[in-house]
Amino acid sequence: MLLVLGRRVSLSFVKRVIPQDPVLLSNPILQDFRTIKFRVIHSGTVFASATRQNTDTMPERRPFVRLPTDVYPVNYGLCLKPDLIDFTFEGKLEAIVKVNLATNQIVMNCADIDIITASFVPEGGEEINATGFNYQNEDEKVTLSFPSALQKGSGTLKIDFVGELNDKMKGFYRSKYATPAGEIRYAAVTQFEATDARRAFPCWDEPAIKATFDISLIVPKDRVALSNMNVIDRKPHPEDDSLLEVKFATTPIMSTYLVAFVIGEYDFVEGQSSDGVTVRVYTPTGKAEQGKFALEVAVKTLPFYNDYFNVPYPLPKIDLIAIADFAAGAMENWGLVTYRETALLIDPKNSCSSSRQWVALVVGHELAHQWFGNLVTMEWWTHLWLNEGFASWIEYLCVDHCFPDYDIWTQFVSADYTRALDLDALDNSHPIEVNVGHPSEVDEIFDAISYSKGASVIRMLHNYIGDKDFRKGMHSYLLKFQHKNAATEDLWDCLEQASGKPIALVMSSWTKQMGFPIIVVDQEQQGDDRILKISQKKFCASGPHNGEDCPNWMVPISICTGEDPGCTKLKVLLDSPETTITINNISPDQWVKINPGTVGFYRIQYSSAMLEGLLPGIRDLTLLPVDRLGLQNDLFSLLHKQADMQEEKNRIERVLGAISAPDLIQKVLTFALSCVTCACYFVRRI
Ligand code: BES
Ligand code: ZN
Repeated sequence: MLLVLGRRVSLSFVKRVIPQDPVLLSNPILQDFRTIKFRVIHSGTVFASATRQNTDTMPERRPFVRLPTDVYPVNYGLCLKPDLIDFTFEGKLEAIVKVNLATNQIVMNCADIDIITASFVPEGGEEINATGFNYQNEDEKVTLSFPSALQKGSGTLKIDFVGELNDKMKGFYRSKYATPAGEIRYAAVTQFEATDARRAFPCWDEPAIKATFDISLIVPKDRVALSNMNVIDRKPHPEDDSLLEVKFATTPIMSTYLVAFVIGEYDFVEGQSSDGVTVRVYTPTGKAEQGKFALEVAVKTLPFYNDYFNVPYPLPKIDLIAIADFAAGAMENWGLVTYRETALLIDPKNSCSSSRQWVALVVGHELAHQWFGNLVTMEWWTHLWLNEGFASWIEYLCVDHCFPDYDIWTQFVSADYTRALDLDALDNSHPIEVNVGHPSEVDEIFDAISYSKGASVIRMLHNYIGDKDFRKGMHSYLLKFQHKNAATEDLWDCLEQASGKPIALVMSSWTKQMGFPIIVVDQEQQGDDRILKISQKKFCASGPHNGEDCPNWMVPISICTGEDPGCTKLKVLLDSPETTITINNISPDQWVKINPGTVGFYRIQYSSAMLEGLLPGIRDLTLLPVDRLGLQNDLFSLLHKQADMQEEKNRIERVLGAISAPDLIQKVLTFALSCVTCACYFVRRI
């Protein structure tokens, strides 16, 4: 249960419930900072004032437009100097850019940052100073204007800027902690997904605009400084010997939302994965012991993914760090994964198995993103569901492999799968795949439908394709798109090639329309054959679907029998409203069950005879726990949402009585009803 509560709930709620520190909010230094008006000064000359649009008087929001592609980055040389007392930072960007099309403007993302100077140096040419910076605050963009056209070719864009180490837990922010002696101090940390790298440095903050990064941090010499890559140089700052300049190795080509840096006081435990990657878990000082479990998980997990994807982890190190103030549960920054403390630290003397399972799942999730998301990145936020849905499925595969005694798939069914079914049966659910434009829409789609339904349909797909072909398809997808971007359809193409099955057609029926079907099944014995009549209709929590347009799904259906409950006897793809299926050589007394393993994302309504037939398998426990769980969940759901006839209700109650004690039924029904009320509210936050 703890697992269920600790789970994706964090996505929609945690960000809102973490209280902001009132001391920080009332800090006069910060308030002053926000009101500072910068003038654009370059080499002692005063240029036109930076203009900021007044968004208050804007009548309506302009349609969102992506950044122009006439100038794009190749490498960001970025040096940041945070001030952990004043909560400000100074930054210096020297970006190698390509000019595709001659232009006298460069448009970049920029939010809550003040540019002091900007210039462009064409390769082998003279430096051209920017004459104005026009901030489009609502669009989180800045347009740098130059007095003459920047010609096609390469050049270096130089920008000096300042910003605030904010208290919003996004962008480059301050995180408060207490030393073991009780002194309050601050660390400087980052959270850039989805669109907050632009709060730390002016950049092309879109997932498809990848570049390499050379990062340097100027930090107090007694602080730990971390970034995506390993340290390659550490030297005293020429002007202040209390500071160190720490230089990190060049990153592979990557998206801005995966860049990270942390400056603070931490201890660590270190290990080496069997494939030669240095793994460190950073903890608050004095708590290194609490990082040991996550280290064990990470050291086992990296080789698992290496082998599963058959693509090596491309960086020399990976750090996992517990951050005191953290909005999400964890973030997959390439080579420097950040976690809230409860998702990473385990007190070896004082922890329960559900906490360990949770940490294992979160570590498994974020490390999966190192390939699926970081190496191959979604082309746009519309495909975010695939990133998160995939990681939310494979984290279980990984934990099941590393810790088989956890029986973690049963947790998946009782947490993600049933939750997704409950939420997606509501009239105000939404399709997994939604078009995203403006950055403000991105946050809204990090919900249980993206995560739990996403994971459930990937699990169904994996089962439909089979592990061998699924891995083959994943490998070719990661190889083909490594260091590039891909769309959902690109994955379907690779899986289609690997399996020879109509993946795009099947999957679009699950991702592009909301909801799921209820599969209605009846049977008839004909000699040695069993004829199953199967039909589908939309399942609605509010009662039978009466809409004119009756949606249909491409439903992978598997069937098992009492002869071998753990083994799938038949697989079919239901691609029409109804069909008949023949099971050969089956005696009349054998029960038939649809959806063994509870992998299909649908509910099942059996005829009375079929349901009664399943009772022996339930009583003697030959039906596997996940199957009993799925059956029970379907019946509860049908009992109070679909069945309006007394006879139907009695029938289901009889079977449920065989599965659970009657007082339990009553308790669960009361609980389920309260959940529906909550779910109606939270699925779309209406
Ligand atoms: N990429 C997300 C983190 C994220 C979530 C960033 C929302 C920005 C907004 C990360 O991979 C993730 O999914 N984190 C989960 C934990 C995970 C184990 C499900 C989270 O934060 O709850
Ligand atoms: Zn994720």
